[in-house]
Amino acid sequence: MAAAALLRRSPAARALLSPSLSSRLVASKPHSSSPAPPPPSSSSGAAAAAAANMKTFSIYRWDPDSPSTKPHLKDYQIDLSDCGPMVLDALLKIKNEQDPSLTFRRSCREGICGSCAMNIDGDNGLACLTKISGASSASTVSPLPHMFVIKDLVVDMTNFYSQYKSVEPWLKRKDPPPQEGKEIPQTKADRAKLDGMYECILCACCSTSCPSYWWNPEEYLGPAALLHANRWIQDSRDQFTKERLDAINDEFKLYRCHTIKNCTHACPKGLNPAKQIDTIKKLQVTP
Ligand code: SF4
Ligand code: FES
Repeated sequence: MAAAALLRRSPAARALLSPSLSSRLVASKPHSSSPAPPPPSSSSGAAAAAAANMKTFSIYRWDPDSPSTKPHLKDYQIDLSDCGPMVLDALLKIKNEQDPSLTFRRSCREGICGSCAMNIDGDNGLACLTKISGASSASTVSPLPHMFVIKDLVVDMTNFYSQYKSVEPWLKRKDPPPQEGKEIPQTKADRAKLDGMYECILCACCSTSCPSYWWNPEEYLGPAALLHANRWIQDSRDQFTKERLDAINDEFKLYRCHTIKNCTHACPKGLNPAKQIDTIKKLQVTP
């Protein structure tokens, strides 16, 4: 494609060139009687290749220090050929090179800390584990749904963490350990019962994908807290199983779950919170 034609179609390509060069090229509109344009030079070919790799990210912005500016989506364009493969790479590139005010959480960049959870193109996920989709379409990045926004992509996790705390996610005993000062032993089979639960990183992708949690965020514990409740209900070393079951045997805390399984679909760690909630419901009927 001739560079001038490409530049007319693509603001991204124009952005790559100096204003004077860009305006000159765009102004030189070919006429039907004009001679055929010369073959593209290697520099215009490089510009075309870069333009073909430009991708738009529409990112939710809201700044509590500018309350008169309503939340809005702001577009950023980046060259994917000069960016890592994940959405977090794109966010860091935008923050480093275009807009240092863009605010989001991240730490480990390998799916361990859970802090980069956000909504990417309509699905909750971890920005560091979500690959950038191709340059052909724009991507939308917004905060986890139905959460209070602190700034941009950062949401208030206070309620989520207090719900986690409410299930008392620690070992509770009535008897002292069999051997004082020693670990409480557990068979391999009992240990295996914790698989699929201990791996949770508390990212909140599951809970914030659940309509029941959206409508009852304070009363319904949500998939993540219930998964952790079951993690301790199932632990052979814990001696408060009945009390744990009784504490959540509640129309709202537990039974707001209607098993639509959005949570399982959303979990970036491949866990199945819906299955754990189902297990708790069965135990309420047949302990
Ligand atoms: S169950 Fe999965 S989605 Fe839910 S908080 Fe844990 S890791 Fe995140
Ligand atoms: S940065 Fe830690 S999970 Fe993404």
